[in-house]
Order: sequence, then C-alpha cells, then structure tokens
Amino acid sequence: MSRYRQAVRVRVREWDPRSASDEEIRSLVETLNEVLAADLPDDPPWQDVQVREYLAETMPGERRISWVAEDDRLPEGTGKVFGHVTLLLLGDIGVLEVLVHPDLRRRGLGQQLVAVAARRAYLEGFSSIGVEAIGDTPAIPFYESLGFEKEYVETRNVLTLSSVDWSALSTMAGGISAGYRVEYHPGGPPESLLEAYAQAKLEGQDGDDNDLDLRPSSSDPQRLRDSLDTLHRRGLKPYIVLAIHETTGTVAGLTELVVPAQHPERADQYDTIVVREHRGYGIDRAIKARMLLELRTAEPGLREVQTWNAQHSESMLKVNAELGFQSDRDWYEYIADVAQLVQRLEPTN
Ligand SMILES: CC(C)(COP(=O)(O)OP(=O)(O)OC[C@H]1O[C@@H](n2cnc3c(N)ncnc32)[C@H](O)[C@@H]1OP(=O)(O)O)[C@@H](O)C(=O)NCCC(=O)NCCS
Repeated sequence: MSRYRQAVRVRVREWDPRSASDEEIRSLVETLNEVLAADLPDDPPWQDVQVREYLAETMPGERRISWVAEDDRLPEGTGKVFGHVTLLLLGDIGVLEVLVHPDLRRRGLGQQLVAVAARRAYLEGFSSIGVEAIGDTPAIPFYESLGFEKEYVETRNVLTLSSVDWSALSTMAGGISAGYRVEYHPGGPPESLLEAYAQAKLEGQDGDDNDLDLRPSSSDPQRLRDSLDTLHRRGLKPYIVLAIHETTGTVAGLTELVVPAQHPERADQYDTIVVREHRGYGIDRAIKARMLLELRTAEPGLREVQTWNAQHSESMLKVNAELGFQSDRDWYEYIADVAQLVQRLEPTN
C-alpha cells in the first residue's frame, strides 16, 4: 500500500549536498535503500557514511548538479527526499542519475526530474546525455519512453566470497610465468610507479569498445593522481594489484578495485588490464586471485565483489568464471540528444 501516493504534492528544487542538512542526507539514503529493495533486492543497502562527500566531490574540471523532489507543503529541506537527480558534466557529455521512491512512481516525477536536468544540460551547451540503466528494472522502459537509445551493454558479475575455494585461489595467484612479479598496493599505486601505471592503462585500452566512458578512467599520470584523490575524497577506498615485467620494470598488468564506505560489504572491481604483449602468461588470473586473497585480510567485512564485463571479452569472462563470479544482470548505457529530449519534455501548453 502506497504511503505517499494520495497525500503528497511534490516540489523539485536544486540541491547542494555540501550545504544539505544531515536529515536530508539521511532521508536520501533511506529513499535510495527503498529503491534498491524494490529494484535490486540482492544489492546491499547503503549506509549513511560519507554520502555527502560521495555526492559532492568530483574530478577537477567536472561538475555535478543535483536536484531533490520534496513535499511541497513543508519548508525547503525539512521533509523527506522523495526523488533525486544528478547531472554530471564531464567532457562533452552529461551523465544523468535519477531515482524516485517506489511509492511515488508512475505519476510523472521521474520525467519531471529528467526534464529539469536536461534543460540545464541544454543551457550549459551540452549536446548529449548518457545514463546507465540496469536490466530488468523500470529504468529500461522509463528511458526508452523518453527516447533514449541503447548504445552499449555489459554484464554485471558478482562473486560471493563465502563460496570461494581459497586454496585453489592461492594456486591461481602463484600461476604466473617466470619474469613477472606481482605487487599489492592498498590505497593506489606508489608515486614511483604512476608513470608506468598510466602507460599500461593507455596501452591496454582495447580501442574497439563503443562504451560511452561514463565511468572514471585515467591514462595519464596527473589524471591518475586526481582520480585516486577523488576516489579517496568520495569514500571509495582503492586497492591495486600489479604485475611488473622484471627485465623492463614496466607494468604488464593491473587490476583496480574499490571498497565504498557507503556499502563496504560489496566491492566494485574496476579496470583489469593486461598490456597486449604480455597476454598469455597467466597475468589476469594471478592478479585477480591475489587481489581477493589480500582483501580477505584487509577488509574482513567484505562479502561480495561485483564487476562489469563486455559480453565479447571472452578470456576475461573465462577467468572470472574460474574465480567464481556469477553473471548477474545486464547493464546498459543509453544516450539521448539533449535538444530532442528538452523538446520532448517541454510542457505542451
Ligand atoms: C526509472 C524511474 C526514475 C522512473 O520514475 P517514475 O517517476 O516512475 O517515472 P514516470 O512516472 O515519470 O514515468 C514516465 C514513463 O516512463 C515509463 N515507465 C516508467 N516506469 C515504468 C515501468 N515500471 N514499466 C513500464 N513503463 C514505465 C512509462 O512510459 C511512464 O509513463 P506512463 O506512466 O504515463 O505510462 C524509477 O522507476 C526509479 O527510480 N528507478 C530506479 C532508478 C535506478 O535504477 N537507480 C539505480 C539503482 S539504485
């Protein structure tokens, strides 16, 4: 039974997480957790830890603008947060994230939130807007109803640590060819390795992906420093495992993972890259296995790791399956032309 449907009139207001009250942040987290329970019941709920920083901090040169939907009968900032939208302006694309409390859905609030963000993107001179939408959730028919087009699909894979065979994992971690050394760096790569690390990221990019770059990626040393700094400020604790090619000292492979303060029981595995000339030496399997072994000690509260893979990256999917990752959901990137979106959402009278 809907708690709000009958009673509430909603106001949408631009909102700055830096100056928001603790109450509002708490209410936003509650709404997010209701959304998760409705749409992604197997995902861990968020804790109210560094959520303000998570929402406020961005990479240098990027801006995030936010709005909340709240009860129109109460003074600003004193009631519940029923909906939230953020527009991250990066490079030449705006990235949208929208959520509406499950009890207030299907009455046009989602559309209203997209409209206000799209109008701002238009005024800021941005020509396209991208979103990530999760398979088998209302976000798919929602964005399609607004004319967004599917651009790219990945699969989210989840590993449950309680199902891991730790002795098999130790064998995998040691199964790297001679001539390579594996290093573990909690917090990020050391300054002395940043150049080599950035170079590996640059060389390891496949170049044949069509994804919209909606997530952070850093392939020059300064951007990497900025990116690590931003992760820390947002409460996302990075862990890195590297394979060093011993004769040249170059980084042959790397895997990156973050443990978010907001849901520390589920980590996000970001990029795993093996530089082309070093493929076929067991690096992918060894560095991922080593990462899991290290996390077992470093993060005793961790229960799951999630990662996203393009459906064509067969060798990586094979290694992930060996480690025990199970495929979970499709994860889509959609895109829309800003001018068309604004026009579509313009009130008709
Ligand atoms: C997607 C979402 C924002 C939509 O919010 P909403 O307020 O219900 O959307 P609207 O009422 O503006 O819907 C606009 C149109 O989208 C389509 N739509 C929205 N939800 C739909 C659903 N469940 N099934 C089919 N169509 C749907 C309809 O065409 C709808 O128009 P109609 O109601 O006149 O038929 C909301 O479901 C949500 O918050 N989802 C979670 C977002 C998310 O995935 N976050 C990340 C995980 S935490």
